[in-house]
Amino acid sequence: MLPTLSLLAAWLASSTTPASAASSLAGTFADGGNTLVSAMMMFLGNDEKVYILDKVEGNAAQINGHPAWASIYDIASRKATAMDVTTNAFCSSGMHLPNGSFVTFGGNGAIGPGGNIGSLRNNAGSGAWDDTYMDVDGTKSIRILNPCSSATINADQTVLNGNASCGWYDDPNVLSMQSQRWYSTAEALADGSIVIIGGFVNGGYINRNYPNTDPAFEGGAANPTYEFFPSRGQEQQMNFMVATSGLNAYPHSFLMPSGKMLVQANFSTVLWDYDQNQETPLPDMPGKVIRVYPASGATAMLPLTPANNYTPTVIFCGGSDMPDYAWGNYSWPFIDTWDYPASKDCQRITPEQADGTFNTDVAYEQDDDMIEGRTMGQFIILPTGKLMVFNGGVNGTAGYSTQTLVTTSYSEMPFGMSLASGPVGTPALYDPDAPKGSRWTNEGFDTSNIPRLYHSSALLLPDASVLIAGSNPNVDVNTSTVFPTTYQAEIFYPPYFAASTRPSPSGMPTTLSYGGAAFDITVPASSYSGAANDAADNTTVALVRPGWTTHGMNMGQRYLQLNNTYTVNSDGSITLHVAQVPPNPNLFTPGPALLFVTVNGIPSNGTSVLVGSGSVGAQPTAAQAVLPASVRLDSASGTASGSSTSSGSGSGSGTTEGGSHTGAIIGGIVAGVAAVGVLGAIIGICVARRRRAARAATSAPAYAMSSAAAPTSVPMGPGMSGKYGGLRTSDSSAFVPLQGNVSTASLGGPYRDEDPYATPRPSSVGSGAPLYQQQHQQHQGQGYDSYYESRR
Ligand SMILES: *[C@@H]1O[C@H](CO)[C@@H](O)[C@H](O)[C@H]1NC(C)=O
Ligand SMILES: *[C@@H]1O[C@H](CO)[C@@H](O)[C@H](O)[C@H]1NC(C)=O
Ligand SMILES: *[C@@H]1O[C@H](CO)[C@@H](O)[C@H](O)[C@H]1NC(C)=O
Ligand SMILES: *[C@@H]1O[C@H](CO)[C@@H](O)[C@H](O)[C@H]1NC(C)=O
Ligand SMILES: *[C@@H]1O[C@H](CO)[C@@H](O)[C@H](O)[C@H]1NC(C)=O
Ligand SMILES: *[C@@H]1O[C@H](CO)[C@@H](O)[C@H](O)[C@H]1NC(C)=O
Ligand SMILES: *[C@@H]1O[C@H](CO)[C@@H](O)[C@H](O)[C@H]1NC(C)=O
Ligand SMILES: *[C@@H]1O[C@H](CO)[C@@H](O)[C@H](O)[C@H]1NC(C)=O
Ligand SMILES: *[C@@H]1O[C@H](CO)[C@@H](O)[C@H](O)[C@H]1NC(C)=O
Repeated sequence: MLPTLSLLAAWLASSTTPASAASSLAGTFADGGNTLVSAMMMFLGNDEKVYILDKVEGNAAQINGHPAWASIYDIASRKATAMDVTTNAFCSSGMHLPNGSFVTFGGNGAIGPGGNIGSLRNNAGSGAWDDTYMDVDGTKSIRILNPCSSATINADQTVLNGNASCGWYDDPNVLSMQSQRWYSTAEALADGSIVIIGGFVNGGYINRNYPNTDPAFEGGAANPTYEFFPSRGQEQQMNFMVATSGLNAYPHSFLMPSGKMLVQANFSTVLWDYDQNQETPLPDMPGKVIRVYPASGATAMLPLTPANNYTPTVIFCGGSDMPDYAWGNYSWPFIDTWDYPASKDCQRITPEQADGTFNTDVAYEQDDDMIEGRTMGQFIILPTGKLMVFNGGVNGTAGYSTQTLVTTSYSEMPFGMSLASGPVGTPALYDPDAPKGSRWTNEGFDTSNIPRLYHSSALLLPDASVLIAGSNPNVDVNTSTVFPTTYQAEIFYPPYFAASTRPSPSGMPTTLSYGGAAFDITVPASSYSGAANDAADNTTVALVRPGWTTHGMNMGQRYLQLNNTYTVNSDGSITLHVAQVPPNPNLFTPGPALLFVTVNGIPSNGTSVLVGSGSVGAQPTAAQAVLPASVRLDSASGTASGSSTSSGSGSGSGTTEGGSHTGAIIGGIVAGVAAVGVLGAIIGICVARRRRAARAATSAPAYAMSSAAAPTSVPMGPGMSGKYGGLRTSDSSAFVPLQGNVSTASLGGPYRDEDPYATPRPSSVGSGAPLYQQQHQQHQGQGYDSYYESRR
């Protein structure tokens, strides 16, 4: 937190260097354009595109005659284009697939204006479809996206409309989970399959009734089970989801070298063997600081490096230590959360050694406090192996509500529906290898004036800048409240953007295997300055998976440094002899990633690489080839200008050229105002629609997400008994063809009989019809309700 002498020295060094165009970017934010939908969820599809998902809401941007809730963001132009998605992906989970595609799981029922239940109901009362917003129940959805290049998309805009070849494939009649999951977690496994854990059935502030008399099922509102994609047979109950009842939405999960999984929720931690469904208890979170939603601490696995022998350490920072009662129930918190300071506490834990051996003395280790407390802070791992935390607020929690137990009317809510306050606009840099007491700094970082609270997101881009977007603690679009629905994205430039020269290595591979032959990458002399030997010693080759971001998490985010040796050549170029990924896919699961070469703390651009076989299944592994010994050459040196790599080492030494980027942001706001004017007519239509809808249903009375709940004046959440009690939907009605234009995707499309189901079938399922059809029938015969009834 305090500048150390070396930081001060670096700052002095950079401040005496005349600021070039590039160096003025370090530590600043730039306008990232308009995402069209509020960026609740994002992932990097390829070098060119970020895919964005929002909940279903009344965004001004339209597609196919309804508001858009997805867009595709072009990184180079910072422009978004609306995309069609059939179902409501609100608070879904997501992950990469081994072939470079992405998948997202679950979400909410169909909703209409104001977050009210869709106009067509499932038997249990949740929304199946809404006539105004034209969305379909997404509670069981499995949506797949095959990223495409700009060239493909420009050539055929049908991909934006749900063309399955590179638009969203989203057809619950064909592909669907076994049960409803809202706020589930997805974690990829060594074979590229995915485990999907827990969730609410219909949503709410936290996953419990109060008092908590049915911690497993909450009367049908909680889903304590896990299932796999591709399916491995019937979902199973996970005891940890019962033990952590109440605070287990979006449980934090990290695959360990042994193939077991670190899972953290409430203040508990386990090592989970999902094959045997066995749990090994690990120590409780010190101070009972809650890290999962809605406390929403920042968490990440620290870089796996040859220097730490790929030993996995997970860090948790911030969140909230609110007392048990304060968390309330499905409807709302029982205190005014926005007055309750978020935690600044950080803890590390290392459950296993690199070889998968259990650390019998495993313990949480106190780490440096963050500079400020944060709820909804988010860790982004940089190519340098340092981490940054973005977004969030100093007080309160995630979630939104029209009331708490003590502030009982919406008009008295001081921050609108937001349950957090005090947005933190200054990012902070964390150096996991710095001595204790000096790991955090925000020196030289500008402060954004855009609040990024609930439903904001952040993502590493290929040029090693960070895309920051979203923020929407509102049940439906509200651009006039204190923390409005936010469409403006920003780009943050970490300290290495002070460098006037970035390395441009050649020979970057496009695929990597688990073990096997080493390969060469060459860094030209023009990529660095100073002695070649020093640069070669100070070069890393790292795989970074930016992950699938939502709710302050980047599911699947991971950093693995490849081992290397080098040869310094007489022309000053450096040939890196690089090992493949270690032959243990648990360390870095198969699928897409970015590959960066970092010289003296300055990263190259990341290039897209696919790790593993490209398909779900056991990944081929081989012994690592022995790397040739390093060859040094004292006379060689780099030819980049002297200042190019001497600053911006990740120490937070960015320059503070205030004016220019502030101008850019203001420019963006002005442009945004203009756009609002242009779109006024469209908004007018939406308002008219809302008014129409409002006649049919009174507005959601309470915690809006759950509520979505009930067209009645009685505040109620999904856990309540009564007419809508339990809202245990997910019966076979979700599988009969829905009314309206529910899908533009062809049922004859490529997904009906493809590889998820080409894997060996669980014996319980039998043979004959394609597995998806059998599952379909199985679901029709045994819905969520009957499944649980049979287990009680
Ligand atoms: C979908 O997009 C692909 C790729 O652009 C194109 O080849 C195909 O013709 C499109 N299919 C439909 C049905 O529009
Ligand atoms: C967290 O877990 C503990 C122990 O099971 C439980 O007593 C507590 O109620 C849980 N907290 C919440 C908010 O549900
Ligand atoms: C990295 O490569 C060197 C040279 O082959 C080898 O000595 C070392 O053990 C390797 N380190 C790891 C963690 O594999
Ligand atoms: C937006 O928020 C303000 C303040 O919370 C509230 O008064 C207003 O009704 C909201 N507008 C809509 C459209 O929900
Ligand atoms: C956060 O809460 C604390 C304690 O209630 C209060 O003193 C402080 O002013 C709040 N900060 C903000 C930014 O609202
Ligand atoms: C890195 O990518 C950016 C954005 O695409 C580009 O402008 C820049 O020239 C690239 N730099 C290098 C060294 O390749
Ligand atoms: C590597 O480069 C960075 C940035 O210049 C510097 O801070 C660091 O001390 C260097 N490390 C070594 C081992 O030389
Ligand atoms: C949550 O608790 C409050 C206060 O006891 C109650 O009014 C509300 O009905 C509860 N919500 C649910 C979903 O049971
Ligand atoms: C990638 O795999 C998924 C799941 O198996 C499949 O649905 C998708 O079509 C595949 N993508 C491509 C581009 O083949």
